[in-house]
Formats: sequence, C-alpha cells, structure tokens
Amino acid sequence: MRILVLHGVNLSMLGRRNPAHYGTESLADIDRSLAELGHELGVDVEPFQTNHEGEMVERIHRVLDEDVAAVVINAGAWTHDSHALADALELLHVPVVEVHLSNIHAREDFRRTSLLAPVCAGSICGFGVQSYLLGLRAAHGLARNSCA
Ligand code: DQA
Repeated sequence: MRILVLHGVNLSMLGRRNPAHYGTESLADIDRSLAELGHELGVDVEPFQTNHEGEMVERIHRVLDEDVAAVVINAGAWTHDSHALADALELLHVPVVEVHLSNIHAREDFRRTSLLAPVCAGSICGFGVQSYLLGLRAAHGLARNSCA
C-alpha cells in the first residue's frame, strides 16, 4: 500500500522555525520517522514538499491517476486560507488525514479555522512529530477498511 504525505508551505524550514511550536526536528527527520513506521505497517510512504501552492494542487490532481491508498497532509499556513487546496482535495476518492505539529486551536485566532478540515476524514494536531505518525496510522487504518 502506498500513502502520500504532503508537506506544504514553510515546512521545508522545520528545525529552523520556532521550536516552541514546531520542535527541533527537520523535515528529513520527520520523513525518516514516517518511513520507519511505514516499514512496520507495510506501507510505502511517499513524502512531497513544496512552497508553491499551484505545485501542491497539481500533485494532488495526480493522485487521481495513481495507485495511492490515502493522503496525509500538513498544508502549513495554506490550511487557513487556501480554497484552492480544499477544492483539489475534495476531488480525491481516497481518505485524506489533516495533521499539524502545533495545536492550531491554542494559537492565534486565524489558525483556528481550517479550510481543509471539511474535506478531510479527520484532523490531528498538537502532538509534534507524533501528529504525523498518528496521521499515518489513521490513514493506513482508513485505507485498509476501504479496501476490505
Ligand atoms: C502548522 C500550523 C500552521 O498554522 C502554520 O502556518 C504552519 C505549521 C503546524 O504544523 O502546526 O506552517 O501547519
């Protein structure tokens, strides 16, 4: 089973961003932990990061023609303002799990709204790197159920 993990804008800078919100691990560290968990679960984890919204939209479109069983996405700040990403995710026929390192509900007001949440199966936030790992487990469970 193949699961796509999408990292949006500014997540390439993890390790150099505010550690109180985002921890000290780099994106490469997170992708390594995801690959390890994927190995345990028997999942091929395919990470993708971009700082360009159109490129992210096009990556999501390609899922329609691929053998991807589920998607995990941390869209960064696009979470709060991108109707375009929400529309792209809504096209998909596979489960989508939204994740955030920080607790977006305990920060500035603008972060409390996710435009993506309504088109996702569920959302996980506030657990640092564990948010991604829980997200991968959730996506795997949902994909397994939808294949059963
Ligand atoms: C984030 C939360 C967003 O509000 C922020 O813009 C990010 C990271 C998180 O993982 O906590 O870039 O998605």
